[in-house]
Amino acid sequence: MLKKLSIAAIAALSLTAGGAMAAGGESHIHDVDFSFEGPFGKFDQNQLQRGLQIYTEVCSACHGMRYVPLRTLGDEGGPHLPKDQVRAYAAEFDIYDAEKDEDRPRTPADPFPMSGDPNAPDLSLMAKARAGFHGPQGTGLSQLINGMGGPEYIVSLLTGYTGEEKEEAGTTFYENTAFPGGWISMAPPLAGEDVDFADGHSNELHHEAEDIAAFLMWTAEPKMMARQKAGFVGVLMLTLLSVLLYLTNKKLWAPIKGKKFQG
Ligand code: HEC
Repeated sequence: MLKKLSIAAIAALSLTAGGAMAAGGESHIHDVDFSFEGPFGKFDQNQLQRGLQIYTEVCSACHGMRYVPLRTLGDEGGPHLPKDQVRAYAAEFDIYDAEKDEDRPRTPADPFPMSGDPNAPDLSLMAKARAGFHGPQGTGLSQLINGMGGPEYIVSLLTGYTGEEKEEAGTTFYENTAFPGGWISMAPPLAGEDVDFADGHSNELHHEAEDIAAFLMWTAEPKMMARQKAGFVGVLMLTLLSVLLYLTNKKLWAPIKGKKFQG
């Protein structure tokens, strides 16, 4: 009985993993080992700070992050910037104040600005919006262990340009091996050596891509670490409960099952 159960469980687990692989479809996503994957994964504070720098210096020219409050940049478990740096960062962006009918500098209570380019989608939740559809991980237990796939998609997108271009109806499209359909209207935003990091970290293209992808995972799921931990504890408790129930059940029925039928 126990043997049969465990065989069924193993089969179910490998199905989840296999199914997710197949769902990758045409776009090419490669796996990345992020620090925040796995039940004990953690965001790397330095990596998030580098990602913020890339967002600020490159991506924010077109993309907004209107759902991310600026104050969260100071959160522990996130980029964890000192309070005065958060205030100074916020003040770099203006916001329209309806009461005074004029623009004023943002404060940590305000969110990041909206997209400046109407064709560029908001990036606040992008890592989650693209999770599961594009990653090599998919859903289920494999997701708990390998992550959601959204940040892998972003890395693959940023490093997936082939250099081919085409023009259609006045818009230039760039060939990209990760983007569904193969042609994206975003010009390659990163080429490598786009930013200089204060911590001297490598600014090769794939490092930059991983840093911004990690940052966007954090904006989309700032409480991921707490959630993963809760999920893991939950699974442990349920496993323990199942074992106890099985043993109790066996013990309760033992005298009846053990009795020989005597006609
Ligand atoms: C010059 C403007 C511009 C810059 C700079 C830019 N983007 Fe984009 N981005 C766009 C546009 C336009 C689209 C929509 C492309 C489309 O759907 O064809 C887009 C789409 C995206 C998407 C969504 C792709 C999808 O699956 O729909 C992601 C992710 C993205 N950009 C990330 C970034 C990152 C990260 C940076 C900074 C490293 C960046 N972008 C810099 C204009 C820009």
